[in-house]
Amino acid sequence: MSQFKVFVTRRLPVDFTALEQIATVEVWQERQPPPYEVLLEQVKQVDGLLCLLTDPIDRPLIEAATTLKVISQMAVGYDNIDILAATARKILVGHTPGVLTDATADLTWALIMAAARRVVEGDRFTRSGQWTTWEPDLLLGPNITGATLGILGLGRIGQAVAQRARGFAMRVIYHSRHRCPPDLEQSLGIEYSSFAHLLQVSDFITIHTPLSEDTHHLFSDAQFEQMKSSAILINTARGAIVDPDALYRALSRGQIARAALDVTEPEPIPMESPLLTLDNLIITPHIGSASVQTRRKMAEMAIANLIAGLNNQVLPNCVNPAVYSWEQGTGDGLQGSSTTF
Ligand code: DGY
Repeated sequence: MSQFKVFVTRRLPVDFTALEQIATVEVWQERQPPPYEVLLEQVKQVDGLLCLLTDPIDRPLIEAATTLKVISQMAVGYDNIDILAATARKILVGHTPGVLTDATADLTWALIMAAARRVVEGDRFTRSGQWTTWEPDLLLGPNITGATLGILGLGRIGQAVAQRARGFAMRVIYHSRHRCPPDLEQSLGIEYSSFAHLLQVSDFITIHTPLSEDTHHLFSDAQFEQMKSSAILINTARGAIVDPDALYRALSRGQIARAALDVTEPEPIPMESPLLTLDNLIITPHIGSASVQTRRKMAEMAIANLIAGLNNQVLPNCVNPAVYSWEQGTGDGLQGSSTTF
């Protein structure tokens, strides 16, 4: 008989056999996430939860989860989970860093290039029958080669974006909470910058910082006012880092030239959002990690974290390792709630 009960909040591209050796596994079968009430009922009965960034794992839910030992999130970001509440209840939280770095950096570059060279506008233009001749000034955009790229947040994904910029002979500047060691700056060919300077001089700004109280609406009116009118903003991190109303004002008034978002606030973007009326904005539906291989690896890592947590083993990728020290009486249990994207 299976020892444990597990709820998985969506169908995943992975084999559950190993998990099923130790647990009864219930998988939510709908395309849409389970409603909050369903999650709440489930967490009262299960030992393990495998969830996605669309599942709000908040304090009331965690406090109702009296049997829950491990929350395994299939994502690197975990701003949908109240980590302090989980840690206080000694519930381990796992995530999937590393495996999605390249896929997300690749999509960031796809958006940089699509926004600069107006690929989506060009496609719309063609399909609507407006391509009637070659025109000297049709759909002009800025050079990418030789431009200045500003990277906000230099975790794994920020670094992978910087590596790719070398092929474009760009000047790459970055701003991060902590300045990285000089040898890393040198090997990536990047320069540290204040946030204000990065805003002022970058031709492209790409966001790779986690969402936190500090980064919520980090891009708002005051920041757009400092940016070049030719600047292009890319966000593949979390939607709420950019204030959507301020972005609309900046794009519609020509305060910045263009933006490309893979993440929005809220998600999905409401169809009545004024942002959807803008031609100088590209929006993709949070597909940064959406390569076949990456999604499979993320699911495998999430299962590995879950199995380890159920078996009282150390999670291969734990967000709140303070739970271990707390259990051993050596910590206050409230550390370990930050990540690098
Ligand atoms: C993550 O993992 O946090 C991404 O946003 C989704 O892959």
